[in-house]
Order: sequence, then C-alpha cells, then structure tokens
Amino acid sequence: MEAKRAFFLIRSIFGVPFLAALLIYKRLRMHLSMYSNIEDFLQTDNNLSPIRYSYSDIKKMTSRFNEKLGEGGYGSVFKGKLRSGRFVAVKMLEKPKANGQDFISEVATIGRIHHFNMVQLVGYCVEGSKRALIYNFMPNGSLDKYIYCKEVSNPLSCRKMYEISLGVAQGIEYLHRGCDMQILHFDIKPHNILLDENFIPKISDFGLAKLYPVGNTIVSLTAARGTMGYMAPELFYKNIGGVSYKADVYSYWNVVDGNGK
Ligand SMILES: Nc1ncnc2c1ncn2[C@@H]1O[C@H](COP(=O)(O)OP(=O)(O)O)[C@@H](O)[C@H]1O
Ligand SMILES: [Mg+2]
Repeated sequence: MEAKRAFFLIRSIFGVPFLAALLIYKRLRMHLSMYSNIEDFLQTDNNLSPIRYSYSDIKKMTSRFNEKLGEGGYGSVFKGKLRSGRFVAVKMLEKPKANGQDFISEVATIGRIHHFNMVQLVGYCVEGSKRALIYNFMPNGSLDKYIYCKEVSNPLSCRKMYEISLGVAQGIEYLHRGCDMQILHFDIKPHNILLDENFIPKISDFGLAKLYPVGNTIVSLTAARGTMGYMAPELFYKNIGGVSYKADVYSYWNVVDGNGK
C-alpha cells in the first residue's frame, strides 16, 4: 500500500514534466533527422541546383576552417562536413571580382551541370565580400600528387593512367559540346583533376569557368586565366590569335604529355 502511494506520488511529480521533455526531445530529433535527409536528398538528386549556404554555415561545416587541404590561385580549400555526414571541400575565393548576383547566376547555371568526370558542385556562399564554392570531397586528392612525386613511384598502373586520360577527355568534351552553353574551363591541369575513392578522374574548378553560346568559336576574354605551363599561348599573348575551346585542348595535351611541369 505504501509502495503504491509512493509510486503515485513520484508519477504525479515527475510524470508530466518528464513526459513533456520526452515529447519535445522526440520532436526535435525528428525535425533534425528530417532536415539532414532533405539536405542529403538535395545533394544526391542530380537535377537540382547547388544550395546556397550562409557564411556561418561555412564556418560550422569546416569547424572554423580547421583543416586546410591546399591553396591555389583563387584561394584556400578546406575540408568540411555537411550535416548529413557527407565530406566536402570548401573553396574560399579571395579577392572576388564578380558582383554577388553575377556570381550566383553563373554558379547556379554551372552547378546544374553533372557529368561522371566532373566534381559535383554541391553549394556556394555569397555574403558581403565572402564567396565560397563547395565541392564533393575527393579522398584521393589531385593527380599532380601521383605524376610529379619523385620520391614515391607512381602507384597508378599504365591501364589506370590511360583510363584517367580518357575520363578527363570525356569530361572536357562534355563541357564543350554536351550542354546548352559552351563551358570553357581555362585551367585544365593535374591539380584540377581530382580522384575519387576508385581513382575515377573528376575535373574540378569548373565553377570558375566561363559560359559562352554554342557555336561561337572565338570568344572574348576579359582577364587572362589559367596556370603557366598549361596555359595556351593565345591566352597569354593577345596578338597571336583568337581564344576558343582549343585552349582547353592545349592544356589537356600538356597534362597527358607531361609537358606542363
Ligand atoms: N574537391 C576536393 N576534394 C579534395 N581535395 C581538393 C578538392 N578541391 C581541391 N582540393 C585540394 O586543394 C588543393 C588546392 O585547390 P585549388 O585552390 O583548386 O588550387 P589548385 O587547383 O591550383 O591546386 C588541390 O590541389 C587539391 O589537393
Ligand atoms: Mg583547383
């Protein structure tokens, strides 16, 4: 009898708040898991545009720019993790030139393009002067690590190297001829050829590429782009001829032939 009374007493004191707390916790968990499912869905569904993130999201996903993957001509790249658990590479663009709206429309257009041999652009950030591009993380890094490293012998077989060259060519062809717009990359080099977990090559940095109407063979270029060693001469010397998709083909040949280094 005593035990029964004590049970009722405890239940009436703790029961209601405990039940309420349990309900709130369950709802919160459901909400959070729904959110990460949506994020995951948006990023795996190939028909959707890249997601716009705020600068505070960028800080969160990179744990305040904790792990730097590398540095290039446009800025630094950091490893990040999305709420869904997916790893990403966050490229912080330094000295952005384009205004925010131009950047958004260009990235949104380019980000809708998907190909097996291109790194997927999953998101971007425009906030004040802050600009970032968020790509899928490629666990095997960039091709330069394998072809230029003198200490370690190249772990990639001839067959694999051939498959990589073929994959890159297919990616470039798609950029040039497979979309509504002609996309010229202007910075094809081993550092921009990333390798996924199966060493499938993925062209990166096309978020910084330029869009041109299809069939327009000679294009106008406001500023010199590219990296010395891989860059076509017409990108550098203005007076030797017009710039076209052939500039990417030139850079590609320098990669395959090992001329660039
Ligand atoms: N999506 C990615 N996944 C993994 N590593 C990356 C990714 N993007 C870039 N990196 C690393 O960051 C480095 C710097 O990249 P980037 O700023 O594009 O400069 P660059 O292409 O001139 O090397 C790359 O060389 C590569 O090792
Ligand atoms: Mg790059």
